[in-house]
Amino acid sequence: MAQVLDGKAIALKVREEVKEGVDVFRAKYGRAPGLHVVLAGEDPASAVYVRNKEKAAAAAGIDGHVHRLLSSVSGEELLALVRKLNADDSVDGILVQLPVPDGVPSAPILEAVDPAKDVDGFHAVNVGGLWSGGSALVPCTPSGCIRLLQEGGVALEGARAVVLGRSNIVGKPMASLLLANNATVTIAHSRTKDLAAVCREADVLVAAVGRAKMVSREYVKPGAAVIDVGMNRDENGKLCGDVDFADVESTVGVITPVPGGVGPMTIAMLLNNTLRAATAREENR
Ligand code: GUN
Repeated sequence: MAQVLDGKAIALKVREEVKEGVDVFRAKYGRAPGLHVVLAGEDPASAVYVRNKEKAAAAAGIDGHVHRLLSSVSGEELLALVRKLNADDSVDGILVQLPVPDGVPSAPILEAVDPAKDVDGFHAVNVGGLWSGGSALVPCTPSGCIRLLQEGGVALEGARAVVLGRSNIVGKPMASLLLANNATVTIAHSRTKDLAAVCREADVLVAAVGRAKMVSREYVKPGAAVIDVGMNRDENGKLCGDVDFADVESTVGVITPVPGGVGPMTIAMLLNNTLRAATAREENR
């Protein structure tokens, strides 16, 4: 029988840890960590994510603010807001929710965020820090996946890990974190030859491609740990991951469900990054 990792419960544990850390921070520095989320446009999924981030921040004692902008906002206006937040000393964390509206290039906005406040870990300085083993702010979803694997007792040292997907938000930082944990890492993607055979080599398989139920039994080595980052709708409009859960459940050793797996961890790690950023800023004064 597969061990199904309860992301909701593990995320609550992380959030409790962060809350305790926030209490210590407030006692020491006389203020709460500040998290500012920029939401531009009306993407319905983003609206839900941002509301959840807002609620989770409040529950952890973090001073959360959401800046809601119209989809007609210009790149210059977004840049001006980011610069204002960079200059505001009460702001410890800045997150620009993606996607930004059509016609606004995201790269210059993400690069404008002060790396010390970059709680998404998307700035080149933090990307470089992650790959060179420095103490960077690390993207939330991949660090949540690592925490899930640790909580599930999955050994990473020497393990063969395959990351399916090569995005800057998940695939690439995920590969870097697995490498830092001494796994032997392959990044596989849509152009990989014999994709199922490559995935079948994995002791640890992380699926982050955004294709509903693509990972079927032929992609999975018996006993493998499978982490599903996907958030899709199936043919009936039901929320599902990149993994065909029902098809692989009897084969895998460890698996995360969708919903209730990786999703809740992303928010928990965002709160953790906010506390880390706030603490580092205070210590570097
Ligand atoms: N949109 C979907 N995932 C993410 C994320 O991790 N960070 C941001 N900023 N936007 C997202």
